[in-house]
Amino acid sequence: MSSYSIEQILRGDVPRVGQPQPLAADPHLMPVSLRVNNHVYMLQLEPRVSLLDTLREFLGLTGTKKGCNQGACGACTVLVNGERIKSCLTLAVMHEGHDITTIEGLGQPNQLHPLQAAFIEHDGFQCGYCTPGQICSAVAMLREVEQGDASFVSEDLTATEVNLTDEEMRERMSGNICRCGAYVGIMNAIREVYEQQQKGPRI
Ligand code: FES
Ligand code: FES
Repeated sequence: MSSYSIEQILRGDVPRVGQPQPLAADPHLMPVSLRVNNHVYMLQLEPRVSLLDTLREFLGLTGTKKGCNQGACGACTVLVNGERIKSCLTLAVMHEGHDITTIEGLGQPNQLHPLQAAFIEHDGFQCGYCTPGQICSAVAMLREVEQGDASFVSEDLTATEVNLTDEEMRERMSGNICRCGAYVGIMNAIREVYEQQQKGPRI
């Protein structure tokens, strides 16, 4: 049982009966600040928590999906500093100071990102579970193409421009699996946005 000094009692520094007691600091938690979709969140996390679980369970950003939770399906793809990563394979504490974008940060219902609009236009989904990951991945993939990054199937690794053939696109999107098999619509949606980009400023 706690005991209090006369001074504490006179100052009123003594919890009253029924008053909530402060919880002891949890030694397993560490402070983490994450910048997600242009908001800064101050969190207390166990260092072992993945970025995916942090987004879904602590920030309520459930647009990012958990499929395999082991890096195989791509449902959890988000953008970190503009690059696509699988958020189930990385720890949240590793991303302090990074710019994280999820599907919720790409567009709004009344102002869709061009890829979101194209997925609707081309029936690029059925159940929709893989769709946020597909779209985040496609955003970064088109940027990689614009930068001239080679892929596994690129014939000339020294070329500075990418010819985005169907084979190139399939390879570059191969980390994102669609169990519904909506690949034709997905490809058509991405190609439409790619062709728009070729004509105008980058989105
Ligand atoms: S949930 Fe991350 S790759 Fe499947
Ligand atoms: S739309 Fe169902 S998994 Fe892709």
